[in-house]
Amino acid sequence: MKPAIDQLTAQFAADVRADLSSTPKQLQSKYLYDALGSSLFDAICRLPWYRITRAESALLARHADAIVTSIGKANGTIVELGCGSGEKLVLLAEALQARGASAHVHLIDISPQAIEHTEQRLTRLHLSVVGHQSTYEEGLRQAAAARRGDGRMLVLLLGSNIGNFDTPAAHAFLRRIRAAVSPGDFLLLGADLAKPELDLIDAYDDPLGVTAAFNKNLLVRINNELGGDFDLAAFDHVAVWNAADQRIEMHLVSRVAQRVRIPAAEMTVSFEAGERIWTESSYKYEPEQIVAMGASAGLASRNQWVDTDVGFALTLFAAV
Ligand code: AVI
Repeated sequence: MKPAIDQLTAQFAADVRADLSSTPKQLQSKYLYDALGSSLFDAICRLPWYRITRAESALLARHADAIVTSIGKANGTIVELGCGSGEKLVLLAEALQARGASAHVHLIDISPQAIEHTEQRLTRLHLSVVGHQSTYEEGLRQAAAARRGDGRMLVLLLGSNIGNFDTPAAHAFLRRIRAAVSPGDFLLLGADLAKPELDLIDAYDDPLGVTAAFNKNLLVRINNELGGDFDLAAFDHVAVWNAADQRIEMHLVSRVAQRVRIPAAEMTVSFEAGERIWTESSYKYEPEQIVAMGASAGLASRNQWVDTDVGFALTLFAAV
Protein backbone atom coordinates (compact mmCIF):
# COMPACT_ATOMS: atom_id res chain seq x y z
CA MET A 1 0.00 0.00 0.00
CA LYS A 2 1.24 3.51 -0.83
CA PRO A 3 1.84 5.73 2.24
CA ALA A 4 -0.75 8.52 2.60
CA ILE A 5 0.55 11.97 1.70
CA ASP A 6 -1.13 15.24 2.59
CA GLN A 7 -3.02 17.33 0.06
CA LEU A 8 -0.29 19.95 -0.42
CA THR A 9 2.33 17.28 -1.03
CA ALA A 10 -0.03 15.50 -3.44
CA GLN A 11 -0.49 18.76 -5.36
CA PHE A 12 3.29 19.34 -5.38
CA ALA A 13 3.80 15.80 -6.72
CA ALA A 14 1.15 16.28 -9.43
CA ASP A 15 2.65 19.62 -10.51
CA VAL A 16 6.20 18.21 -10.56
CA ARG A 17 5.02 15.26 -12.62
CA ALA A 18 3.25 17.48 -15.18
CA ASP A 19 5.95 20.15 -15.33
CA LEU A 20 8.92 17.79 -15.67
CA SER A 21 7.03 15.92 -18.41
CA SER A 22 6.49 19.10 -20.43
CA THR A 23 8.81 20.55 -23.09
CA PRO A 24 10.78 22.49 -22.04
CA LYS A 25 10.92 20.99 -18.56
CA GLN A 26 9.85 23.41 -15.88
CA LEU A 27 9.07 23.78 -12.17
CA GLN A 28 6.68 26.41 -10.82
CA SER A 29 8.31 29.35 -9.06
CA LYS A 30 5.73 29.28 -6.24
CA TYR A 31 7.50 26.16 -4.97
CA LEU A 32 10.69 28.18 -4.33
CA TYR A 33 9.18 29.43 -1.05
CA ASP A 34 9.27 26.77 1.66
CA ALA A 35 10.82 27.84 5.00
CA LEU A 36 14.39 27.51 3.69
CA GLY A 37 13.51 29.12 0.33
CA SER A 38 11.85 32.08 2.09
CA SER A 39 14.98 32.56 4.24
CA LEU A 40 17.18 32.40 1.16
CA PHE A 41 14.93 34.97 -0.52
CA ASP A 42 15.28 37.26 2.53
CA ALA A 43 19.05 36.88 2.15
CA ILE A 44 18.80 37.74 -1.59
CA CYS A 45 17.01 40.97 -0.64
CA ARG A 46 20.09 41.96 1.38
CA LEU A 47 22.59 41.25 -1.41
CA PRO A 48 24.33 44.30 -2.86
CA TRP A 49 23.52 43.06 -6.38
CA TYR A 50 19.74 42.67 -5.79
CA ARG A 51 18.59 46.25 -5.36
CA ILE A 52 14.81 45.92 -5.70
CA THR A 53 14.03 45.72 -1.97
CA ARG A 54 16.16 48.66 -0.88
CA ALA A 55 15.00 50.85 -3.78
CA GLU A 56 11.37 50.12 -3.00
CA SER A 57 11.77 50.72 0.74
CA ALA A 58 13.47 54.06 0.07
CA LEU A 59 10.65 55.15 -2.27
CA LEU A 60 8.06 54.04 0.28
CA ALA A 61 9.80 55.87 3.11
CA ARG A 62 10.01 59.03 1.00
CA HIS A 63 6.40 58.95 -0.22
CA ALA A 64 4.60 57.11 2.60
CA ASP A 65 2.63 60.18 3.55
CA ALA A 66 1.28 60.77 0.03
CA ILE A 67 0.45 57.07 -0.23
CA VAL A 68 -1.47 56.70 3.03
CA THR A 69 -3.33 59.98 2.48
CA SER A 70 -5.17 58.10 -0.27
CA ILE A 71 -7.06 55.94 2.22
CA GLY A 72 -8.36 58.76 4.43
CA LYS A 73 -8.44 58.82 8.21
CA ALA A 74 -11.10 56.35 9.28
CA ASN A 75 -12.07 52.76 8.54
CA GLY A 76 -9.31 52.29 5.99
CA THR A 77 -8.16 48.85 4.94
CA ILE A 78 -4.66 47.90 3.79
CA VAL A 79 -4.23 44.55 2.08
CA GLU A 80 -0.74 43.30 1.33
CA LEU A 81 -0.51 40.58 -1.30
CA GLY A 82 2.61 38.51 -0.57
CA CYS A 83 3.62 40.08 2.71
CA GLY A 84 7.30 39.13 2.73
CA SER A 85 8.94 40.27 5.93
CA GLY A 86 6.61 43.22 6.65
CA GLU A 87 9.26 45.94 6.76
CA LYS A 88 7.52 47.95 4.03
CA LEU A 89 4.13 47.70 5.67
CA VAL A 90 5.68 49.07 8.86
CA LEU A 91 6.76 52.18 6.94
CA LEU A 92 3.19 52.80 5.78
CA ALA A 93 1.70 51.98 9.17
CA GLU A 94 3.99 54.52 10.83
CA ALA A 95 2.96 57.18 8.32
CA LEU A 96 -0.69 56.39 9.05
CA GLN A 97 -0.14 56.76 12.77
CA ALA A 98 1.71 60.03 12.28
CA ARG A 99 -1.49 61.34 10.61
CA GLY A 100 -3.61 60.11 13.51
CA ALA A 101 -5.25 57.60 11.18
CA SER A 102 -5.71 53.87 11.52
CA ALA A 103 -6.43 50.96 9.25
CA HIS A 104 -7.34 47.31 9.32
CA VAL A 105 -4.50 45.31 7.86
CA HIS A 106 -4.89 42.05 5.95
CA LEU A 107 -1.79 40.00 5.13
CA ILE A 108 -2.06 37.45 2.35
CA ASP A 109 0.70 34.95 1.73
CA ILE A 110 1.05 31.26 1.02
CA SER A 111 3.83 31.10 3.62
CA PRO A 112 2.61 30.89 7.25
CA GLN A 113 6.08 31.95 8.42
CA ALA A 114 5.88 35.18 6.38
CA ILE A 115 2.48 36.03 7.89
CA GLU A 116 3.64 35.29 11.43
CA HIS A 117 6.82 37.32 11.00
CA THR A 118 4.89 40.32 9.65
CA GLU A 119 2.21 40.09 12.37
CA GLN A 120 4.95 40.24 15.01
CA ARG A 121 6.40 43.35 13.44
CA LEU A 122 3.03 45.08 13.29
CA THR A 123 1.89 44.23 16.83
CA ARG A 124 3.83 47.06 18.39
CA LEU A 125 1.98 49.50 16.11
CA HIS A 126 -1.39 48.56 17.68
CA LEU A 127 -3.07 47.83 14.36
CA SER A 128 -5.74 45.23 13.81
CA VAL A 129 -4.04 42.60 11.67
CA VAL A 130 -5.62 39.53 10.04
CA GLY A 131 -3.47 36.94 8.27
CA HIS A 132 -4.77 34.86 5.37
CA GLN A 133 -2.69 31.86 4.38
CA SER A 134 -4.18 31.57 0.92
CA THR A 135 -3.82 32.51 -2.70
CA TYR A 136 -3.91 36.23 -3.48
CA GLU A 137 -7.39 35.92 -5.02
CA GLU A 138 -8.95 34.08 -2.09
CA GLY A 139 -7.31 36.37 0.51
CA LEU A 140 -8.42 39.47 -1.39
CA ARG A 141 -11.97 38.13 -1.52
CA GLN A 142 -11.94 37.56 2.25
CA ALA A 143 -10.43 41.00 2.95
CA ALA A 144 -13.02 42.73 0.74
CA ALA A 145 -15.82 40.83 2.49
CA ALA A 146 -14.50 41.95 5.90
CA ARG A 147 -14.31 45.67 5.14
CA ARG A 148 -16.27 47.98 7.35
CA GLY A 149 -17.87 51.39 6.82
CA ASP A 150 -17.06 53.53 3.84
CA GLY A 151 -13.26 53.63 4.31
CA ARG A 152 -10.96 53.21 1.35
CA MET A 153 -8.98 50.09 0.58
CA LEU A 154 -5.32 50.21 -0.40
CA VAL A 155 -4.00 47.01 -1.97
CA LEU A 156 -0.22 46.57 -1.94
CA LEU A 157 1.46 44.45 -4.58
CA LEU A 158 5.10 45.17 -3.85
CA GLY A 159 8.57 43.72 -4.34
CA SER A 160 8.04 43.35 -8.09
CA ASN A 161 5.92 40.26 -7.42
CA ILE A 162 3.95 41.23 -10.54
CA GLY A 163 7.16 40.43 -12.47
CA ASN A 164 6.78 36.73 -11.75
CA PHE A 165 3.50 36.58 -13.73
CA ASP A 166 3.71 36.19 -17.50
CA THR A 167 2.13 39.06 -19.45
CA PRO A 168 -1.41 37.66 -19.91
CA ALA A 169 -1.44 36.46 -16.29
CA ALA A 170 -0.26 39.88 -15.04
CA HIS A 171 -3.08 41.59 -16.96
CA ALA A 172 -5.61 39.05 -15.73
CA PHE A 173 -4.38 39.44 -12.17
CA LEU A 174 -4.73 43.24 -12.24
CA ARG A 175 -8.26 42.78 -13.61
CA ARG A 176 -9.08 40.44 -10.72
CA ILE A 177 -7.71 42.97 -8.22
CA ARG A 178 -9.86 45.65 -9.87
CA ALA A 179 -12.91 43.38 -9.64
CA ALA A 180 -12.29 42.76 -5.93
CA VAL A 181 -12.15 46.46 -4.97
CA SER A 182 -14.60 49.38 -5.37
CA PRO A 183 -14.26 52.58 -7.41
CA GLY A 184 -12.06 54.98 -5.45
CA ASP A 185 -9.97 52.22 -3.86
CA PHE A 186 -6.24 52.08 -4.58
CA LEU A 187 -3.51 49.72 -5.73
CA LEU A 188 0.15 50.44 -5.01
CA LEU A 189 2.27 48.43 -7.41
CA GLY A 190 6.05 48.08 -7.06
CA ALA A 191 7.72 46.88 -10.26
CA ASP A 192 11.31 46.46 -11.37
CA LEU A 193 12.23 48.25 -14.60
CA ALA A 194 14.17 47.03 -17.63
CA LYS A 195 17.88 47.74 -17.14
CA PRO A 196 21.26 46.71 -18.55
CA GLU A 197 21.63 42.95 -18.96
CA LEU A 198 24.82 42.74 -16.85
CA ASP A 199 23.08 44.33 -13.86
CA LEU A 200 20.29 41.79 -14.15
CA ILE A 201 22.69 38.86 -14.40
CA ASP A 202 24.49 40.07 -11.25
CA ALA A 203 21.16 40.36 -9.46
CA TYR A 204 19.90 36.89 -10.51
CA ASP A 205 23.21 35.01 -10.52
CA ASP A 206 24.98 36.72 -7.65
CA PRO A 207 28.68 36.15 -6.96
CA LEU A 208 27.93 34.73 -3.49
CA GLY A 209 25.76 31.97 -4.93
CA VAL A 210 22.72 32.76 -2.77
CA THR A 211 20.37 32.87 -5.77
CA ALA A 212 21.86 29.59 -7.01
CA ALA A 213 21.05 28.03 -3.62
CA PHE A 214 17.53 29.54 -3.74
CA ASN A 215 16.98 27.96 -7.17
CA LYS A 216 18.54 24.57 -6.31
CA ASN A 217 16.38 24.40 -3.17
CA LEU A 218 13.60 23.32 -5.55
CA LEU A 219 15.54 20.09 -6.09
CA VAL A 220 16.14 19.78 -2.34
CA ARG A 221 12.37 20.02 -1.81
CA ILE A 222 11.70 17.32 -4.41
CA ASN A 223 14.27 15.08 -2.72
CA ASN A 224 12.93 15.71 0.81
CA GLU A 225 9.20 15.81 0.12
CA LEU A 226 8.80 13.48 -2.84
CA GLY A 227 11.68 11.05 -2.22
CA GLY A 228 13.61 12.26 -5.30
CA ASP A 229 17.25 11.44 -5.90
CA PHE A 230 18.43 14.65 -7.58
CA ASP A 231 22.23 15.03 -7.30
CA LEU A 232 22.56 18.76 -6.57
CA ALA A 233 26.13 18.84 -7.85
CA ALA A 234 24.91 17.64 -11.24
CA PHE A 235 22.89 20.82 -11.88
CA ASP A 236 24.02 24.41 -12.42
CA HIS A 237 22.00 27.56 -11.79
CA VAL A 238 21.86 29.97 -14.74
CA ALA A 239 20.18 33.33 -15.24
CA VAL A 240 19.38 34.34 -18.83
CA TRP A 241 18.10 37.69 -20.10
CA ASN A 242 15.37 37.12 -22.68
CA ALA A 243 15.34 40.47 -24.48
CA ALA A 244 12.45 39.61 -26.81
CA ASP A 245 10.14 38.93 -23.87
CA GLN A 246 11.74 41.51 -21.53
CA ARG A 247 12.33 39.01 -18.76
CA ILE A 248 15.17 37.44 -16.81
CA GLU A 249 14.80 33.68 -16.53
CA MET A 250 16.25 31.27 -13.97
CA HIS A 251 17.03 27.73 -15.07
CA LEU A 252 18.70 24.64 -13.63
CA VAL A 253 20.97 23.03 -16.20
CA SER A 254 21.85 19.36 -16.13
CA ARG A 255 25.65 19.01 -16.33
CA VAL A 256 25.47 15.45 -17.66
CA ALA A 257 23.05 12.99 -19.21
CA GLN A 258 21.24 11.46 -16.24
CA ARG A 259 18.07 9.89 -14.91
CA VAL A 260 16.36 11.04 -11.72
CA ARG A 261 13.78 9.03 -9.81
CA ILE A 262 10.92 10.84 -8.05
CA PRO A 263 8.87 8.11 -6.34
CA ALA A 264 6.00 10.25 -4.97
CA ALA A 265 5.47 11.71 -8.46
CA GLU A 266 5.62 8.18 -9.88
CA MET A 267 8.20 9.14 -12.47
CA THR A 268 11.77 8.78 -13.62
CA VAL A 269 12.98 11.82 -15.55
CA SER A 270 15.74 11.66 -18.16
CA PHE A 271 17.97 14.66 -18.80
CA GLU A 272 20.37 15.22 -21.67
CA ALA A 273 23.65 16.99 -20.89
CA GLY A 274 22.90 20.74 -21.04
CA GLU A 275 19.13 20.27 -20.77
CA ARG A 276 17.38 22.90 -18.67
CA ILE A 277 14.57 23.11 -16.14
CA TRP A 278 12.97 26.56 -16.36
CA THR A 279 12.14 27.63 -12.80
CA GLU A 280 11.25 31.34 -12.86
CA SER A 281 10.65 34.36 -15.07
CA SER A 282 10.99 37.88 -13.79
CA TYR A 283 9.52 40.42 -16.21
CA LYS A 284 11.00 43.90 -16.31
CA TYR A 285 8.89 46.89 -17.36
CA GLU A 286 9.13 50.41 -18.72
CA PRO A 287 7.30 52.95 -16.49
CA GLU A 288 4.70 53.67 -19.19
CA GLN A 289 4.03 49.96 -19.70
CA ILE A 290 3.04 49.76 -16.04
CA VAL A 291 0.62 52.67 -16.42
CA ALA A 292 -0.86 51.13 -19.59
CA MET A 293 -1.24 47.71 -17.97
CA GLY A 294 -3.19 49.29 -15.08
CA ALA A 295 -5.36 51.33 -17.46
CA SER A 296 -6.37 48.24 -19.40
CA ALA A 297 -7.53 46.70 -16.10
CA GLY A 298 -9.63 49.71 -15.04
CA LEU A 299 -6.92 51.21 -12.80
CA ALA A 300 -5.95 54.84 -13.45
CA SER A 301 -2.44 55.91 -12.53
CA ARG A 302 -2.60 58.68 -9.90
CA ASN A 303 1.13 58.93 -9.21
CA GLN A 304 4.32 57.20 -10.20
CA TRP A 305 7.59 57.48 -8.28
CA VAL A 306 10.67 56.20 -10.09
CA ASP A 307 14.17 55.44 -8.80
CA THR A 308 16.05 56.09 -12.01
CA ASP A 309 19.38 54.96 -10.57
CA VAL A 310 18.23 51.44 -9.67
CA GLY A 311 15.43 51.30 -12.23
CA PHE A 312 12.40 50.70 -10.04
CA ALA A 313 8.90 52.22 -10.04
CA LEU A 314 6.13 52.54 -7.47
CA THR A 315 2.82 53.32 -9.12
CA LEU A 316 -0.33 54.36 -7.24
CA PHE A 317 -3.50 53.47 -9.15
CA ALA A 318 -7.10 54.35 -8.37
CA ALA A 319 -9.90 51.98 -9.32
CA VAL A 320 -12.24 53.72 -11.79
C1 AVI B 1 9.81 37.52 -5.53
N1 AVI B 1 10.31 37.94 -6.83
C2 AVI B 1 9.80 39.26 -7.18
C3 AVI B 1 11.76 37.82 -6.98
C4 AVI B 1 12.20 38.33 -8.38
O1 AVI B 1 13.04 39.22 -8.41
O2 AVI B 1 11.66 37.85 -9.38
C5 AVI B 1 12.23 36.40 -6.79
C6 AVI B 1 13.69 36.21 -7.07
N2 AVI B 1 14.18 35.34 -7.90
C7 AVI B 1 15.50 35.43 -7.92
N3 AVI B 1 15.86 36.40 -7.12
C8 AVI B 1 14.74 36.89 -6.55
